[in-house]
Amino acid sequence: MKIAIGNDHVAVDMKNEIVKYLVSKGYDVTDVGTNSSESTHYPIWAEKVGNLIISGEVTKGILICGTGIGISIAANKIKGIRAVVCSEPYSAKLSTQHNDTNVLAFGARVVGVELAKMIVDSWLDAQFEGNRHQMRVDMITEIENK
Ligand code: RB5
Repeated sequence: MKIAIGNDHVAVDMKNEIVKYLVSKGYDVTDVGTNSSESTHYPIWAEKVGNLIISGEVTKGILICGTGIGISIAANKIKGIRAVVCSEPYSAKLSTQHNDTNVLAFGARVVGVELAKMIVDSWLDAQFEGNRHQMRVDMITEIENK
């Protein structure tokens, strides 16, 4: 699976750890940056990752900022993106099973690297369950299209 990953200046070290982890598990990872500790703006990186998903170049995206909040809000402004911000694995898993999320966000100032890996695993290993959940996801899309 192809996964894009993006982050602001707060999350460079965390991003590098997650990229290493994903590559070790066989994922094809596109790192859109930032790779600098110079202050930047999280919407830039959210938009880059979101656009790669919408264009079909990657299947899913991971976004990391200080809290995961700003970067997930920005990603959710892109039509077709369903981003979840998680600081524990249960919600990450359910967000795939019930909400068919295509972006996972978390905070480098909130979770440690090992917990982040568990969150990523729970999110990626789960399957969307469809059926009544598909209907609800379609309702979200209808809101987007109004
Ligand atoms: C940057 O200081 C910080 O605001 C950002 O990383 C993020 O936490 C925003 O939601």
